[in-house]
Amino acid sequence: MVMDPKQFRNALGSFATGVTIITTRDGQGGAIGVTANSFNSLSLDPPLVLWSIGKKAFSFPAFSAAKHFAVHVLAADQQALSDRFARPSTEKFDGVEYAHGLGEVPLFPGCAAVFECTTDQFVDGGDHVIMIGRVERFTVNEEALPLMFFRGRYVIPEAGGIFSPPVKV
Ligand SMILES: Cc1cc2nc3c(=O)[nH]c(=O)nc-3n(C[C@H](O)[C@H](O)[C@H](O)COP(=O)(O)O)c2cc1C
Repeated sequence: MVMDPKQFRNALGSFATGVTIITTRDGQGGAIGVTANSFNSLSLDPPLVLWSIGKKAFSFPAFSAAKHFAVHVLAADQQALSDRFARPSTEKFDGVEYAHGLGEVPLFPGCAAVFECTTDQFVDGGDHVIMIGRVERFTVNEEALPLMFFRGRYVIPEAGGIFSPPVKV
């Protein structure tokens, strides 16, 4: 099958996801962060999560040497933060409020959930590398609505909308 890269990308975009920002520190202690929707849960016991970073990303060298990283599951009102970390820039963290987590990794307030991880494995994945993290600590805000991404666009759920009536699975 001859695969058109654009159509392949569009087809993959049919998988609706949440949006995360993954943060770490580089070798010089600089704050690093990228917007990523490749995040997923991997294992409950041990507690593992995964995401993938493009090998051509400016932040790739920092992540490929990172001992710690934090996954921020973004809330519906954090689209501006998502946009800021979805473009290469040396000023991504300018004026952004953050605390210091495990390994001094930047931690943003106001997220739907935050997972602080130690890097467990790097797995080669073509033009990306899959980073598997062991969750050491996490916080969750049960009230937050998620920022979502579908077919190349953000989706902002309305309060009382997609979650009404609540469905227990
Ligand atoms: C919704 C969304 C999801 C993204 N997911 C990923 C991802 O999972 N992995 C990745 O490497 N880049 C992803 N990107 C692109 C990066 O955010 C973008 O390339 C960014 O510039 C990377 O930061 P850097 O240039 O500092 O390396 C995504 C972008 C958006 C808007």
